[in-house]
Amino acid sequence: PEAYETITVERKGRAALLTLNRPQALNALNLQVMEDVVAAVEALDRDPGCGCIVITGSAKAFAAGADIKEMHPQGYLDMYLSDWFTAWDRLGQARTPTVAAVSGYALGGGCELAMLCDILIAADTAVFGQPEIKLGVIPGIGGSQRLTRAIGKAKAMDLCLTGRTMDAAEAERAGLVSRVVPADELLGEALAVAGTVAAMSLPTAMMAKEAVGRAFETTLAEGVRFERRLFHAVFATADQKEGMSAFIDKRPPDFHHR
Ligand code: CAA
Repeated sequence: PEAYETITVERKGRAALLTLNRPQALNALNLQVMEDVVAAVEALDRDPGCGCIVITGSAKAFAAGADIKEMHPQGYLDMYLSDWFTAWDRLGQARTPTVAAVSGYALGGGCELAMLCDILIAADTAVFGQPEIKLGVIPGIGGSQRLTRAIGKAKAMDLCLTGRTMDAAEAERAGLVSRVVPADELLGEALAVAGTVAAMSLPTAMMAKEAVGRAFETTLAEGVRFERRLFHAVFATADQKEGMSAFIDKRPPDFHHR
């Protein structure tokens, strides 16, 4: 197993659990965290033995945002020439499904990290927001785009312009999160979801993820055409025969991820 400075990575069968571990800064996302998370996710993404990745933080904070102390002294050219935060895009390019398990603060970059994941599960203690405006800046890891696509203009403008936060119930109503659970059940629920996804055919799960992701990138007609081609493609897998045979034989499927 790899050793990382700011995160821990554990394997749970075919699922993996990545835990942010900078408690002294409420998991603020400095460049080291970005490097560690992206490296860990890319390593897991290359491993066919991993079928789903859970990303979580602590009870108090999923992540309280990008690291304000690290950003404070930077100038335009520092940010531009290092292309600050661009490595986060690689997280969204992972093909393995990802689950964000959010407890406590998911603010700024923390909310953006959660939105980079495919399934977002919240504890009832979760607090979401894009409060960058209160620091004199704007979201920088895709928040203005992904929040707007997730919850619509009305609430995205409200959150980005006032900096107010929303609780787990509002986040679920708005469609940002798919499930809210009591805080002490968060990890169990997220790992159960990850276990369920990881037991599915990995190439099929990747294609399902790719198909849903396309909805944010293209027109309806092109998206449907893309889906149709992937739908045809899954008939090249042994797992398609296994899944449909298992249904007909009235037994659980045993996918071999090929
Ligand atoms: N960056 C750096 N350090 C942070 C941090 C951040 N985003 N958030 C918290 N910390 C640090 C605090 O400075 C503090 O450190 P010290 O003990 O050394 O003073 C420690 O974590 C504990 O934080 P608090 O004492 O503030 O804890 P609290 O319980 O009183 O408040 C909080 C919690 C409301 C989340 C508060 O910490 C807070 O408002 N944090 C900043 C939230 C924010 O503005 N996030 C957006 C950042 S900008 C961004 O993310 C840009 C982007 O789009 C990528």
